[in-house]
Amino acid sequence: MAGPTTTTQEPVKTQQKCIAVFALLCCFAVLVALIFSSVDVWGDDEDGITEENCSRDCRISDTKDLMTSSIVLVETIPDELSLHMDGKLHTALSAGFHSLLDQAKHSVEVVSPVWELNSWDLDPAPAAAQQGELLFQRLLGLKSRGVRLKIASSLTNSTELKALAAHNAEVHFVNMTAFTRGGLHSSFWIVDRKHIYIGSADMDWRSLSKRKELGVVVYNCSCLALDLHRVFSFYWQLYEKDYIPSIWSKRVTALYGRHSALEVELNSTPAEAYVSTSPELFCAKDRTRDVDAIYQVIQSANKFIFISVTDYLPLVKRSFRGIAVTRYWSFIDEAIREAVVLRGVRVRLLISFWKKTHPLTFNFVTSLKSLCMQLHNCSLEVRFFSHKDLKDDYQLGLNHNKYMVTDNALYLGNHDWVGSDFAVNTGVGLVIKMRDSPQEGGGTILEHVQAAFERDWRSRYAKSLQGSKDQGKHRHLQWPKHHPENKEENDWNDPL
Ligand SMILES: *[C@@H]1O[C@H](CO)[C@@H](O)[C@H](O)[C@H]1NC(C)=O
Ligand SMILES: *[C@@H]1O[C@H](CO)[C@@H](O)[C@H](O)[C@H]1NC(C)=O
Ligand SMILES: *[C@@H]1O[C@H](CO)[C@@H](O)[C@H](O)[C@H]1NC(C)=O
Ligand SMILES: *[C@@H]1O[C@H](CO)[C@@H](O)[C@H](O)[C@H]1NC(C)=O
Ligand SMILES: *[C@@H]1O[C@H](CO)[C@@H](O)[C@H](O)[C@H]1NC(C)=O
Repeated sequence: MAGPTTTTQEPVKTQQKCIAVFALLCCFAVLVALIFSSVDVWGDDEDGITEENCSRDCRISDTKDLMTSSIVLVETIPDELSLHMDGKLHTALSAGFHSLLDQAKHSVEVVSPVWELNSWDLDPAPAAAQQGELLFQRLLGLKSRGVRLKIASSLTNSTELKALAAHNAEVHFVNMTAFTRGGLHSSFWIVDRKHIYIGSADMDWRSLSKRKELGVVVYNCSCLALDLHRVFSFYWQLYEKDYIPSIWSKRVTALYGRHSALEVELNSTPAEAYVSTSPELFCAKDRTRDVDAIYQVIQSANKFIFISVTDYLPLVKRSFRGIAVTRYWSFIDEAIREAVVLRGVRVRLLISFWKKTHPLTFNFVTSLKSLCMQLHNCSLEVRFFSHKDLKDDYQLGLNHNKYMVTDNALYLGNHDWVGSDFAVNTGVGLVIKMRDSPQEGGGTILEHVQAAFERDWRSRYAKSLQGSKDQGKHRHLQWPKHHPENKEENDWNDPL
């Protein structure tokens, strides 16, 4: 009988197979461990500050210059714009950068989508470019003070990066074409793993004089700086790579996020903070995506949400097998709708009206506004910020801000609220949540940003759409000529 003999041999064979598979698994595990350790060896050093001994008490003891508080709102308000400052202190962005450079003792790490601090191609150089040139000279001079300048960029042929590299700046090129076909559009600074800047400005002379920019400088806050540094390390290690490693050094793992925010003292006010990033491919372990951070801030608003962005467009353009497909991207749009209609949160949306405004923007915001029709407890207002002398080269008076402030939180990012931006370009966001509701006149960062928003909202440059309900004394914008198909009219189609 053949049956019994085969059944007795079978278990032996499977046992042998098991051993072979087990041995293979062991080899694999050892390999994985090796890769892990080798990545870690190459991980960027963290200057002796670790997550255990970094500072959560972001306090300034010796107040001098701008360092009167640990978080400072910095803005560029072009001279040409007359905005009512209400006697409030407004700290110039350029002063913020200079004070960061004054503090620098060991390292300055910079990411910027653009490097045009000098107006190389404009002849004669506009007087307004002076601030940019000055900043560029100071960056060149860091070497003589023994401060390392590290720059990550996706620009292949930048005159300024070449000049900085020739002066001992370490420049790491990140080939974004290979990853997402987007750009390294993040915009932030880290100084000595202690002080940071995040905001809308690029390393562009226009950002320092001609465009309206908004950002924050946070001093003496090494826990937050360390977390942002891990985003920088991520870019830094992509140098000469054309793939995202599947296993990463733990030195790029996020320290804080949406579910585990950093508890800090900002100007002696208890707050929670974390750094978010995009696109998804660039989110290391535990890192919160920008869109999830935005979602969380909208979700947690109780009374109001004020949004100021250059462009608002819930569309994403992707290419499938070489064919570009545009799709509706509902992520932020639906969060706003929910807040407005279901929770009765008052929403104000301030968008820029400029050369590159996509014509469909008007349809999407009109659709948002129409939600409140016939509803009592519902308010969604949209205004367009536009400056009549908007010259193409200078982007004079362009509202380049990218933030949202609510009754209890702030989200400050690098991206406009355009689906395609979040999908392919890198960016970072900073979320700050106040643990207690701010006391009146407490002067928290939230109140400063809210005051900046209200100033812009009430300014003569903020106009509502013609034919809308909230008429009254406000100026109106002519409904623009509608050419969604006319590609020459806007270069939104550029990326991808
Ligand atoms: C933090 O801890 C690391 C390692 O434990 C140590 O090397 C470093 O000196 C410490 N830094 C400070 C500021 O205490
Ligand atoms: C930074 O904070 C630490 C405490 O966390 C404090 O000892 C130090 O004096 C602060 N530095 C400055 C410049 O205020
Ligand atoms: C790089 O920039 C220089 C100077 O702006 C220009 O002459 C050159 O053609 C550029 N090269 C490429 C490959 O774009
Ligand atoms: C970037 O990556 C793309 C695709 O992998 C490649 O074709 C291109 O040559 C790379 N660019 C540079 C400057 O290395
Ligand atoms: C909706 O009602 C709540 C509570 O009655 C009120 O606090 C809120 O301001 C209202 N929202 C709007 C948009 O009127």
